[in-house]
Amino acid sequence: MPGFFGTRASLLVDLAITTFVLMPFALLPVIRLAKRGEHRRHRAAQLAFFAIQTLAVVLLEVDIRLEGGSAAIAGRAVQLDGAAVRVLLLGHIAIATTTWVGWLTLLVRSARRYSGKATPPLPGPFSRTHRRWGRWVWLGVFLTSASGVVLYVAAFT
Ligand code: HEM
Repeated sequence: MPGFFGTRASLLVDLAITTFVLMPFALLPVIRLAKRGEHRRHRAAQLAFFAIQTLAVVLLEVDIRLEGGSAAIAGRAVQLDGAAVRVLLLGHIAIATTTWVGWLTLLVRSARRYSGKATPPLPGPFSRTHRRWGRWVWLGVFLTSASGVVLYVAAFT
């Protein structure tokens, strides 16, 4: 089924890229919730956005497999030369995977500390680590999105 951007991408790919582009911006108010001390809402939104991002990745992955794999799609890219697309694709996959694992790890560790199932509790001495890693995860989400957009333009327009 064709997507809604009028490119060669399918509907699933367009839905996924839209999610990726919006995610770093959607996370900013979620971080602001924590700054304002609304920790419960911060936690709920983090869990929801992580689930949405994961679903978007799974759908994109299924679609890419059906299309013959990312290498096949990259091979059809016309806006950049083959070597550049391969480097970008590898970088994108590395950043996306590291970010997803970091995001999941931070969620699990933070949720356990917040609910008193692990020490030190949150908020508490773990806050500094949490804040630092939270910012790295945000940067990872942003870079995943930015490199994803370049790949999308190269492969589907
Ligand atoms: C689901 C579990 C989570 C819980 C229970 C939680 C809880 C908290 C709490 C209590 C704070 C306040 C800071 C403090 O400890 O004094 C905070 C801040 C923060 N959290 Fe989370 N958090 C969770 C997940 C995440 C995730 C997954 C991220 C990153 C993607 C994140 C990013 C941040 C950031 C950047 C701040 C700092 C805000 C500031 O600058 O003050 N949090 N979080």
